[in-house]
Amino acid sequence: MSLRIGIVGTGRTIGVATDHLKGIQAVPQWELTAIYDIVQEHAERWVEKNNLSKDIICLSLTDLFDKVDAVSICTDNLSHGMIAREAFKRKLPVLCEKPLSINYYESKLLADEAEAAGIVNYMGMQYRYHPYAQVIKELIQADELGEVFSYRHKLGGSRIGNPNVGLEWRMKKETSGPGAVADFGIHQVDLISYFLQEICGEIKNVQAELGTFIPYRQTEHDIGAVTNDDLAVIILRLENGALCTLNNSRLLPSEGDGLEIVGTKGAVSMNSHGEIFFRKRVEGGAWASECTQLKIQERHRFSGLARGKQYTEFYEAIVQGAPYELSFEYGAKAAKVIEAAVLSSGIGKRVSISEI
Ligand SMILES: NC(=O)c1ccc[n+]([C@@H]2O[C@H](COP(=O)([O-])OP(=O)(O)OC[C@H]3O[C@@H](n4cnc5c(N)ncnc54)[C@H](O)[C@@H]3O)[C@@H](O)[C@H]2O)c1
Repeated sequence: MSLRIGIVGTGRTIGVATDHLKGIQAVPQWELTAIYDIVQEHAERWVEKNNLSKDIICLSLTDLFDKVDAVSICTDNLSHGMIAREAFKRKLPVLCEKPLSINYYESKLLADEAEAAGIVNYMGMQYRYHPYAQVIKELIQADELGEVFSYRHKLGGSRIGNPNVGLEWRMKKETSGPGAVADFGIHQVDLISYFLQEICGEIKNVQAELGTFIPYRQTEHDIGAVTNDDLAVIILRLENGALCTLNNSRLLPSEGDGLEIVGTKGAVSMNSHGEIFFRKRVEGGAWASECTQLKIQERHRFSGLARGKQYTEFYEAIVQGAPYELSFEYGAKAAKVIEAAVLSSGIGKRVSISEI
């Protein structure tokens, strides 16, 4: 059975919609029948760039809803809620980009409404389905790391590290909510949960510092203030006591990006080239002198990679009622950790997740 899908928000800055298109095209059960962008020119440019028919362009959200069985939301964070609510009124399942909204409270409200509506609601937090995450997950499931006590992850984007990039919706609190701390932090929190929740428990508390190092940007006719963070450093403690340090930035070059998870039996790390290394402890506890490079195998890849897997799950949730973890509720739970990070930075203190 094939389903029709529509994308709302085709892209102006990063244009994540193109990534969604690849996911949709990787799953034959989906057919992209409609797109809508509040700026029609964005939609026109997008169909041309992606060799799609102009006929799929809709002139309103209502027009799009009439032509689809499900909706993907790829707009700025502030508008997610409005579009999702309208879709739910039409009983249309929604796959929404992250973060769900501009703060935890809005996200939770929307998640509760989605739950009450009883309509499939799926978050676009795709990092767990990248092949490297599958390699690492497999290692953890095979208990190759033992009890994990240390986790370190630097993630970011360098595009707007250029101060000449003008002011965008993501640099303003009212349209984005928090900045880098949420943008990348949501993915990082998802990965911690995906990799470690079963063996280390929940995230218990958070300590963070947020900064804005490019405070002004060019607007069309003037200079405007950046009103959220472009660099964040977070320390998290998990239920088993493990310590996680996260660095998320919109400014730094990507060379230093990477991930490291260390346990009582072994350590796995991934560098900015995506190379994954595993080092065991030898008898007695010292680190082995040799380190093995782990290769990505076919079983670690999904058709259409991370987005393909998401669109498969989304489809199966709608058609077969298959369970899925990446719900709006899950997105709201991740947003709670980010809310705690923002609060921690504001008050200069450690914040328990239970305080939020
Ligand atoms: N999962 C990821 O890895 C990832 C990566 C990048 C962006 N994102 C998320 O995707 C979303 C979009 O980000 P982007 O960088 O692609 O944005 P973008 O600026 O490239 O595109 C947003 C588009 O939405 C349109 N739009 C805004 N409000 C609208 C409305 N009410 N109705 C219809 N169209 C509307 C804009 O005109 C624009 O074309 C954000 O929530 C962002 O956080 C996720």
